[in-house]
Amino acid sequence: MAALFRLYNVTKRYRSREVLNIRKMEVNKGRIYTILGPNGAGKTTLLRVMSLLTVNDSGRIEVFGEEVSWNKSQLVRLRRHMAMVTQTSFMFKGSVYYNVAYGLKVRKRPEPEQRKIVKECLELMGMSDFADYPAQKLSGGERQKVAIARALAVKPAVLFLDEPTSSLEPNSAMDIEHYIKFINSQYNTTVIMVTHNLFQARRLAEEIFFLWDGKIIEHGSCEDLFTRARDERTRAFLQGNF
Ligand SMILES: Nc1ncnc2c1ncn2[C@@H]1O[C@H](COP(=O)(O)OP(=O)(O)OP(=O)(O)O)[C@@H](O)[C@H]1O
Ligand SMILES: [Mg+2]
Repeated sequence: MAALFRLYNVTKRYRSREVLNIRKMEVNKGRIYTILGPNGAGKTTLLRVMSLLTVNDSGRIEVFGEEVSWNKSQLVRLRRHMAMVTQTSFMFKGSVYYNVAYGLKVRKRPEPEQRKIVKECLELMGMSDFADYPAQKLSGGERQKVAIARALAVKPAVLFLDEPTSSLEPNSAMDIEHYIKFINSQYNTTVIMVTHNLFQARRLAEEIFFLWDGKIIEHGSCEDLFTRARDERTRAFLQGNF
């Protein structure tokens, strides 16, 4: 299977404290991964390094088969195939339409094509009625749907999600989960999601990385981790003993 990401001995320090130390990690195309672990384990840092927003201090990262050198033209090219949605997504001033079209404008796609894609993405997320609505006035759940539509508009190969539903009530969270699954199956988009919701991880993930103190202490299929985790810390965490 083609690996989209390969990380070897990737470390990140803040001041003198090591917050990430990934000996080996591989992510394959078209799958849904979740990254689990306690607060401060390094989950967001790992997503930021993988999405080429934070530079690692040592080690090697390969993205789409290419070694990351962090030179600007390479970053611009590789980042075009990635999108990130965070816990409380920032909305630009302006309409929902403007927000979803933003990435397409930046990429200088022709207007008719922009209109077609924005329409599709809003429809997909059940947000068509909101196209002219001021994005900054949306509720939390609506905002997250628009953020995903905006991410989707650029047809990313990889969608990074950092606790995308943690500020939402269960019904809205389930809606978003449904869309994440649909996007993955329909467009073969690889999904890498951080979540604190173990039920959500269980429903969505094909593979799970369990992060502890900056290290992947366990990796396996969702089924394996939830039913027969090897590490005591993983077992305790998954049983809610934290
Ligand atoms: N920009 C930064 N400057 C200094 N320290 C940072 C920075 N970003 C993260 N850290 C530290 O790195 C560690 C890992 O942080 P990170 O945000 O990756 O954890 P996390 O697993 O996402 O936690 P949470 O579940 O709370 O979101 C934490 O101890 C945090 O304080
Ligand atoms: Mg985090």
